[in-house]
Amino acid sequence: MGQTVLVTGGSGYIGSHACVALLEAGHTVIVLDNLSNSSEIALQRVHQICARAPLFIHADIRDAAALAAVFEAHEVDAVMHFAGLKAVGESVTMPLSYYDNNVTGSLVLLQAMEAAGVNNIVFSSSATVYGDPASVPIGENSPLNPTSPYGWTKMMVERVLTDWQHADAGRSVALLRYFNPVGAHPSGLIGEDPRGFPNNLMPFISQVAVGERDKLHVFGDDYATLDGTGVRDYIHVLDLVDGHLKALDFVAAKPGLHTINLGTGQGVSVLQMVAAFEQASGRQIPYAVVARRPGDIAQCWADPARARHLLQWEAQRDLTQMCADSWRWQQGNPCGYR
Ligand code: NAD
Ligand code: UD1
Repeated sequence: MGQTVLVTGGSGYIGSHACVALLEAGHTVIVLDNLSNSSEIALQRVHQICARAPLFIHADIRDAAALAAVFEAHEVDAVMHFAGLKAVGESVTMPLSYYDNNVTGSLVLLQAMEAAGVNNIVFSSSATVYGDPASVPIGENSPLNPTSPYGWTKMMVERVLTDWQHADAGRSVALLRYFNPVGAHPSGLIGEDPRGFPNNLMPFISQVAVGERDKLHVFGDDYATLDGTGVRDYIHVLDLVDGHLKALDFVAAKPGLHTINLGTGQGVSVLQMVAAFEQASGRQIPYAVVARRPGDIAQCWADPARARHLLQWEAQRDLTQMCADSWRWQQGNPCGYR
């Protein structure tokens, strides 16, 4: 049965893909976003893909009155909470902004949910809460050890949500720890649109492929990995949002606290990613090996067994598809939504 879902951060990269999946599954979608890192054009594109539009509210999650008004005007069944700041380096230089947006913002949202009696929430956490893992694959019971203010905000919000759930057995919380989301909707209409210099590997590679940047800097080739470059668990954004839809149904059916990794369980190195992107795009990706990026870890990939068991969810899309879809989006929108 269709639910009414409030999607905070719904015009962002992952949120816009979640809107498509929710609308296609017959849910009613209300997006609340302050557009601090996104464009309303993303929601027009969602409309174009689905022939249905989410309702858009231009507001900040720290605005208690705006949230109260949303919950008063709509019978919201559940919240998907994507809104937040996500740049690790920026969080080191602007920690207060990160704690305010991510932690205070989540508190204000939860207070509004509680006042309105909305019990179900699916939260965007991150594998960054594990820090430098003692071993791989990483299971949900691995020690938590964030290494940046951004990572701490995710761990703190997880704690707040845990205590909130424990206070009332009728509440239901999914803490979804994402590994490395990449790729785009196969229509090429929505995708990742980083502002300024991309920090993450996939957007950087696709900007090199399209000619926006001349070469990729590979941050270190002396790690103890298969080819010396960093290894990560890249997951197609469509698989990630499929996991959210499963989690939405799961929290509705099983009140409780559910902490779940969303990853493929496969590690891919920087050079493997470069080769896969060259294959998918037919373009050469020039690169130069430079020093390690401070704070980087050698390798990280998920143990996705719990998601398989609880949600009957498994990533379906391979690296070729991740690269092909990123490339289609980048080629069709060389300047993103601008
Ligand atoms: P994004 O920046 O594209 O989307 C976040 C959205 O939230 C943006 O549209 C932004 O305008 C909005 N927003 C930020 N602060 C807000 C506020 N105070 N009030 C209202 N709206 C606000 O990022 P994304 O990649 O789509 O990530 C979504 C969520 O997933 C984030 O919480 C992020 O930390 C988490 N996550 C992302 C990744 C990743 O690699 N993309 C990995 C792990 C976790
Ligand atoms: C980054 C964040 C992490 C976040 C994750 C998910 C940091 C330190 N960590 O991690 O908190 O959860 O994104 O999006 O920013 N690389 C290059 N050249 C580049 C960019 C990246 O060689 O220009 C390498 C990195 O060294 C790494 C791999 O590519 O080995 C992936 O990097 P990136 O996409 O930034 O993801 P994470 O390091 O996993």
